[in-house]
Amino acid sequence: MNKPVRKAVFPVGGLGTRFLPATKAMPKEMLPVVDKPLIQYAVEEAIEAGIEQFIFVTGRGKTALEDHFDHSHELEETLLHKGKTETHRTVLDILPKPGSVFYTRQMRPLGLGHAVWCAKELIGNEPFAVLLADDLVLANQGNCCLKQMIDVYNQNGGNVVAIEEVPREETYKYGVLNVTHDDGRIAQADGLVEKPKPEDAPSNLSIIGRYILDPEVFTELDKQESGAGGEVQLTDAMAKTMDRVEFRGLRFEGHRYDCGSKLGFIEANLAFALARDDLRDGVTDIIKRLSV
Ligand code: UTP
Repeated sequence: MNKPVRKAVFPVGGLGTRFLPATKAMPKEMLPVVDKPLIQYAVEEAIEAGIEQFIFVTGRGKTALEDHFDHSHELEETLLHKGKTETHRTVLDILPKPGSVFYTRQMRPLGLGHAVWCAKELIGNEPFAVLLADDLVLANQGNCCLKQMIDVYNQNGGNVVAIEEVPREETYKYGVLNVTHDDGRIAQADGLVEKPKPEDAPSNLSIIGRYILDPEVFTELDKQESGAGGEVQLTDAMAKTMDRVEFRGLRFEGHRYDCGSKLGFIEANLAFALARDDLRDGVTDIIKRLSV
């Protein structure tokens, strides 16, 4: 039987330069989609998927993230005092179980692979998930993206990533699979290329920010080799373990929004608002008004 996936890593050490100046003093992962910060969606997804331990790899200027997942006694008392019991509950609902959250600090943003490597001692020798909060996935209740991936992992073990088809001309933005077998839902691969030019891309199946990884990846990350953009790439380390660890990409059910880009972020706000009963009509009116 495969070891269960109990731990999730949330790399939040990046600089978020595409969102400056908004991200000068505020972490990108705290940008709200409707009324929740991106990181909270990611943590809720992990909880829904059965994750028990939450490991944040933070960096300078990221303390707002820690505060978000902690008590704010003054705020809680004020809300109670004013009789705002429902809002009070909203603030308490986001608190993880005491003792289930761990923070480590990526002292320099050397890339996603380096951020994950910073969590190595907290992970130990067991499979783990990685969630990038800026890839936000809207899925059906009870069937979040990570849960779908864990179901695939529980059957097969190995590495499992979430994948989607991207237009050929956009492969340069993603990690792309070299596919050996594809049943239309799960694609097995024996190679990965980080940010290939369209003419060099082995397929148009790209990895999004959800991974389940065998701890073997740390033997490659230990080498701290830099790849595309001079950064330590997680994709490169995964690619180098493919001779030892089976690799599957899952075409997940749901829609992914790239909230690291401005248009993706705006689209996510509209989509998540339209999915809510309390906002749908108002937002539909606004869209109609603005599109004439
Ligand atoms: P991005 O590639 O979007 O980089 O990282 P970024 O620095 O956040 O944003 P831009 O490109 O400058 O606008 C994807 C995820 O990986 C984390 C980021 O915090 C984000 O959640 N990351 C990236 C790290 O934790 N450390 C790094 O060194 C790089």
